[in-house]
Amino acid sequence: MGLANLNDVLKDAYASSYAVGAFNAINMEFVQAIVRAAEDLNAPVIVQISQAAIDYAGMEEISAVARAVAEKASVPVVIHLDHATRLDVVERAIKAGFTSVMFDGSSLPLEENVKLTATVAKMAHDAGATAEGEIGRVPSAAKRSWTREELAELMTTPEEAAQFASRTGVDALAVSVGSVHKMKAQQAMVDSRRISEIKRVVGVPLVLHGSSGVTDESLREAVRSGIAKVNIATALSQDFLRAIRSRLAEDLSVSDARIVLDMARQAVASSVAEKIKLLGSAGKAAGNTRRIPGEMLRSDGPVKRDRALGERAAGLERRDAKDRSEDEPVE
Ligand code: G3H
Ligand code: ZN
Repeated sequence: MGLANLNDVLKDAYASSYAVGAFNAINMEFVQAIVRAAEDLNAPVIVQISQAAIDYAGMEEISAVARAVAEKASVPVVIHLDHATRLDVVERAIKAGFTSVMFDGSSLPLEENVKLTATVAKMAHDAGATAEGEIGRVPSAAKRSWTREELAELMTTPEEAAQFASRTGVDALAVSVGSVHKMKAQQAMVDSRRISEIKRVVGVPLVLHGSSGVTDESLREAVRSGIAKVNIATALSQDFLRAIRSRLAEDLSVSDARIVLDMARQAVASSVAEKIKLLGSAGKAAGNTRRIPGEMLRSDGPVKRDRALGERAAGLERRDAKDRSEDEPVE
């Protein structure tokens, strides 16, 4: 167990019609929360770190944290670079120990997207890593909303998906099927029929981006139709911040930052666990070698773990999951 690449975890998902959760991490607490939830459920998991998160945390710093946690994990953990738009970032990520990389050329002209994605796939494969590309475009709700017609324009067609996958050699393919990045409420329904049609002609696992905004029902249907990797960032960021606000509202005079961060970490773990169950990957880590459940983050220091309290807080906070109204989250 421990470090894995996309092929290690997606082949079985692809064949058995479940999806592996790909959760965005921006710091140590997110990485630990994601891996802890996966270990508790004996699920394979993808920790993804975006180019923007690398700009925030530092390449060597965040990859060292992710690798340290993944190497000790009792389940397969992929360390995946998310939404890279620059080849130098891909190169540095592979050097820093990422086991998988995504090149996002979806806003480039097709031929340029094909060329750069194929280059990235080769770079990854030469290093024993895996690569994801994107065809069609999954837009962002950060600055504006999108009409049905506009979304339809951006959607991936089965023909272009098949061409793109075979010309680039990617191991997984992100497609645009109606989801939108950075939605704060679960309101989107994806086009499951389109997913099935794409799956029929593309030989690699399909990836759904912008999954925070997709309803649970539509997510389940998307997985049944052929999505094998589900990307979630915004919802986790909201859960993290909600837990911090809630803890501070109880006692604004708290002076040990770890108390607040631990609650936030537990809220993220609880949210990741819910998604893992929804995607059907619980219990799918081959060969169960897990250690004592839930003990990975045990602290002997002044922050005493109180899981029940954390889960209570997370549960309370998740009641309004359909009404997310915070400031724009960081991906
Ligand atoms: O690549 C990351 C995702 O597509 C996450 O999207 O922030 O809307 O969940 P989200
Ligand atoms: Zn994305």
